[in-house]
Amino acid sequence: MTHPLWPLYDLRVRTARLELHLPTEGEIAALAAVARGGIHGEHEMPFAVPWSTLPSPDFEWGFVRHHWRARGSWEPSDWVLELGVFVDGEPVGMQALFAKSFSRLRTVRSGSWLGRDSQGLGIGREMRIAMLTLAFDGLGADVAETEAFADNAASIGVSRSVGYDDNGIGRLAPEGEPRDMIRFRMTRQRWQEVRAERAFPEVVIDGLDGCLPLLGVG
Ligand SMILES: CC(C)(COP(=O)(O)OP(=O)(O)OC[C@H]1O[C@@H](n2cnc3c(N)ncnc32)[C@H](O)[C@@H]1OP(=O)(O)O)[C@@H](O)C(=O)NCCC(=O)NCCS
Repeated sequence: MTHPLWPLYDLRVRTARLELHLPTEGEIAALAAVARGGIHGEHEMPFAVPWSTLPSPDFEWGFVRHHWRARGSWEPSDWVLELGVFVDGEPVGMQALFAKSFSRLRTVRSGSWLGRDSQGLGIGREMRIAMLTLAFDGLGADVAETEAFADNAASIGVSRSVGYDDNGIGRLAPEGEPRDMIRFRMTRQRWQEVRAERAFPEVVIDGLDGCLPLLGVG
């Protein structure tokens, strides 16, 4: 273990093309620059909290505080794991997974974004598969849930392409106007089915053992 104080820094989730890991301070700054470069169109808001359209410097301060807050408020019973996504060592986006009372509920939820230059290339699907492999195979989750605004074709495309089942409709108003959200659910049994049926990239997880107590596992 190279980070005994915070073993989550040792966690690496890799495919042939991607690496997911907890970003360092410098990588958080680089990811903020990717996000500031653009994630979505001017009249779109894919996020439940409209952080991506804040003017500078509130955007940058909000970005780093989000990452510090996730670490500072971490509890094994309530955690948010914000993994940076890297291609050839360069940051391209984030894949988050989060859970409350994981030891009892065995349920994770997720969210993600990519810089616009990295969208539409299959990276979103691949990082979701990496996250699900971590959740089901690494943590022993029983259920993974996610949701997307009904107009977010790319996020819905990822969930459908990976094989989640539809799980109802929700509603949120990130900018004041209520908008419908499509909810998705993947059970452990469904994960085993889709993995056998579909051509998923191979995922390798390193450095997880030391993280398990922090994640409420075991
Ligand atoms: C959502 C997001 C992470 C998806 O990643 P991506 O790399 O663009 O998506 P992929 O290229 O992996 O596409 C995955 C699937 O969705 C489909 N898809 C992607 N973009 C699509 C679009 N605009 N319309 C319809 N389908 C789309 C793809 O065809 C693919 O399906 P397939 O595997 O059956 O061919 C990315 O687009 C993004 O960051 N968007 C802005 C932020 C956001 O919406 N975050 C999610 C909030 S819930």
